[in-house]
Parts: sequence; structure tokens; C-alpha cells
Amino acid sequence: MSIDLSVTLCGVHLPNPTILASGILGLTHEVMVRVAEAGAGAVTTKSISLAPRDGYPNPVVLDWGPGLINAVGLSNPGVEVMVEEIRAAKERLAPLGVRLIASIFADTIYDFGPTARYVSAAGPDLIEVNISCPNLDDDYLQMFAADPYVAGQVTRRVKGNTDRPVLVKLSPNVTDIVRVAEAVVEAGADGITAVNSLGPGLILDIETGRPILAHGTGGVSGPPLRPIAVRCVRDIYRAVDVPVVGMGGVTSGRDAAEMVLVGATAVGIGSAIAYQGMKVFGEVCRELESYMERHGFERLERFRGRGG
Ligand code: SIN
Repeated sequence: MSIDLSVTLCGVHLPNPTILASGILGLTHEVMVRVAEAGAGAVTTKSISLAPRDGYPNPVVLDWGPGLINAVGLSNPGVEVMVEEIRAAKERLAPLGVRLIASIFADTIYDFGPTARYVSAAGPDLIEVNISCPNLDDDYLQMFAADPYVAGQVTRRVKGNTDRPVLVKLSPNVTDIVRVAEAVVEAGADGITAVNSLGPGLILDIETGRPILAHGTGGVSGPPLRPIAVRCVRDIYRAVDVPVVGMGGVTSGRDAAEMVLVGATAVGIGSAIAYQGMKVFGEVCRELESYMERHGFERLERFRGRGG
């Protein structure tokens, strides 16, 4: 049986459904190319803001055993540097057939517009709008993804400033993620990414009584997040008529199959890189293929949304 892992995400062809999740790597074109060569179907940049951001002091990430906790502070060199990285990455990814997703964020609803415009000029295949970082500075009232109306407003601002398909990245830290998904789809989102990290959580050094992360709290990711992410993807898939990129604790082909069963068109991989290295993309694809072979599925469409 010949198995075809390729998918179409918001009109964009991916050679396979694995995507480098935003925030892990993805600040330089060299690293994005290495991820593509390791087998990813698409790579997502780290979230890009108009102005450069230093982020929080170290330590910004901790492997606490079952998963990771991070508070990086959305560090990035700003849009001017990142458009050059996107252009360079696009050139090197194109021959591999691997797609580039530019993740953007802004401090205000208004600033999402110019950020989307600048970044789009570099020609990413898709834009992902990060409205769900749980590691906010004290001067933020709440993340944009916490309120369906505000999430919709951000989506409208981005859609009015780009010709690229727009994914909106949602948070599991809300009472009703489906309402937020419905609001962003009504505002024009072409797809949903679900989910960002959970929390914020807190881990102490019990000898000092102080948090281990310099920021104090941080977003929880990796396998402990997976059952929550799977439930969120299932609920969103059932409620809206746009593709969903499922992410949260995916480390194996088994986990990717589970995401597809609850409706994901593609599957983000992030924290697993810390445990397994970049080879995780190739491994997930091979394991997914063997799952499909066992079940007689030639394409992912054959079982997408059939579970849950
Ligand atoms: C961070 O940079 O602190 C995390 C980014 C995110 O979770 O969106």
C-alpha cells in the first residue's frame, strides 16, 4: 500500500503533517532549514514583534521530568531582522517543499496590523497569530485569547493587513475555548492552532523556597499537556469549519494519529525536540505511516475526525 502523508492546510501544500511549533527554535534561517531537513512538513518562526525584545533573564526553561515549563518572554530581534530571516529561509525551504509559517504577536490590537503587514512582505506561506502566550508582563491585563471579542478584533486587524492565510493560536487557559475559536473564525481566521502552553504554572527550588524560572511562573508544555490539547482540538474541530493544527505534548506517531483522529489537519511539535532532538519529525512520520498501514489508511483524510 502506498501511503501519502501530504496535507493541504488553508490551501497550502505540506509534504507531511508535522510542523515545528513556534517558540522552540526558528529565529534563524539556518536552524529552520535544519528542522526541515530533519523531516518537518512546515516550520514556524519564533513569535515576531515590531520592536526587538530581550525576553526574560535565565533560566527561561526547565525540564521538570514529565514536561517542560518556560517563560522566555517572547524574545526576538524584531520584524526588520526577521523579514530577512524569513526571506532566506523561504529560499532554502522551497526546494524541499517545506512551508514557512511566520508567528507574530503585538502588545496592542492596533500593532497586530503593521506587524502582519511587514512580515507578510517577506512572503511566508502562512501567518500564525500568537494571542495566547501565558507569560505576560505585569502591565498586561490578560492575554488576547482570554476574551472572544478581543481575539476577534485582533484577527480582523491581521486579516486586513495580509494576503496570507491566517492561523490564530489559542490558549487552553480559558473557560470555553470553542467560543474563542468561533469568534476568530467569524472574524476571518483561515485556521486555528490549538493549543499554546498551559498555565502559568510554578515550580520551586525547595531549598531556597524561590521559583526556579527567573520570571517566576511559566507555561507548561510536553506530555502533561497532551490530553487537554486533544480535547481542545476535538471540541474546536466539531464547532468550526476551518482546519485545526493540533499541538501540545506530541512526541510520537501515536500522538500524531490521536490528533488527526480528533480532527487535526496538521500536528505541531515543540517540547519533544528537547527530549528527542530534531529527529523527532522523521520518527513521528515513520510511526504515523506504520499506524496507517496497519489500519489500511492511504491518506490522513481517511481517519481525520473519526475519533473522540
Ligand atoms: C514565551 O516566549 O514566553 C512563550 C511564548 C508563548 O508561549 O507563546
